[in-house]
Amino acid sequence: MNRYLPNLLACVISVVFFSIGAQAGDAERGRIVAEVRCTPCHHLHLESIRIGPGLKGIYNRAPRMSGVPYARWDAAALDAWLKDPRGIKPNTKMAIPPIAEKDRADLIAYFIMETNGANQDKPSQ
Ligand code: HEC
Repeated sequence: MNRYLPNLLACVISVVFFSIGAQAGDAERGRIVAEVRCTPCHHLHLESIRIGPGLKGIYNRAPRMSGVPYARWDAAALDAWLKDPRGIKPNTKMAIPPIAEKDRADLIAYFIMETNGANQDKPSQ
């Protein structure tokens, strides 16, 4: 009977960790998603433009592009933008295939980790 206990515990523990990860977003996984999906057009660690604006410190900073209804790129704004850029700004040049919900959550966790709240108290301009 006891020999099943370790397997059972491992199973319960992995389910718990998976659930926590799914809710909060996995920043390390988000880093990989960003490198694959965003670096063709964006620098991740520079402010300079590649095809789109640099994403350094993107979390909670003001947009560097016109035509979006956000003062800051907070989690909700980033999620909406990444879900459907053309739904937010119909003539945007950011034309990308859809990003899955889990990938968006992980990307946002990564950007939060990278910015580490440093821009939170700065004015939005
Ligand atoms: C095909 C090229 C392309 C890809 C791939 C791409 N973007 Fe963009 N992105 C752009 C362009 C171009 C703009 C500016 C759009 C405009 O001015 O309408 C932009 C703008 C943005 C902005 C607003 C930046 C600011 O300073 O206001 C964010 C945030 C952003 N992209 C995030 C991402 C993320 C995260 C990914 C990866 C999941 C990604 N983009 C993938 C081209 C791309």
